[in-house]
Amino acid sequence: MLEKDIEKILVSEKQIEEICVRLGKQITEDYQGKDPLIIGLLKGCMPFMAQLIKNIDLYCEIELMGVSSYHGGISSSSDVKITKDLDASVSHRHVLIAEDIVDTGKTLDVITKLLLHRGAASVEVVTLLDKPEGRIVPFTPKYVGTVIPKAFVVGYGLDYDERYRNLPYVGILKAEVYKK
Ligand code: PRP
Repeated sequence: MLEKDIEKILVSEKQIEEICVRLGKQITEDYQGKDPLIIGLLKGCMPFMAQLIKNIDLYCEIELMGVSSYHGGISSSSDVKITKDLDASVSHRHVLIAEDIVDTGKTLDVITKLLLHRGAASVEVVTLLDKPEGRIVPFTPKYVGTVIPKAFVVGYGLDYDERYRNLPYVGILKAEVYKK
């Protein structure tokens, strides 16, 4: 039913599975002995984080943080609102933020700086999608699933008006859907 609103599949279920295996392996190698704290930024991170952590073979902990961004504004930090804060301390921890997409870079720039300010030993980002053409604030995620062009994408955690997060792949939404 949802498929009728999708113009084109950009990252298939199979490709996402392969990305999670590749990134999970790399993270497992890089974080040996570091017991990382993996922090997912709600809500978009959910499917990606769930699949990624199954491919990380390390002692690690997971945490969730509610963050929502308001991209209409001028300054960066005031655009990003924390709607649910962490339950655990990040002090002296090696933090890995799990995200569905890095677009303008504002969210990750603000949250990375905040967690370092709170005393994290290191903060890196793993994202399923990177849209470099959308950048307003310079930000380079360490682990990237795949680079995508500047298109309106939904699925696998990404929404339009809170819908489509449950699609098992990432697709371009038909323009007629958001122009209604
Ligand atoms: C999306 C996404 C990132 C952020 C990236 O979240 O999950 O957190 O936008 O965009 P940026 O690089 O332009 O800051 P959103 O605020 O839409 O909330 P959601 O995860 O609940 O969909």
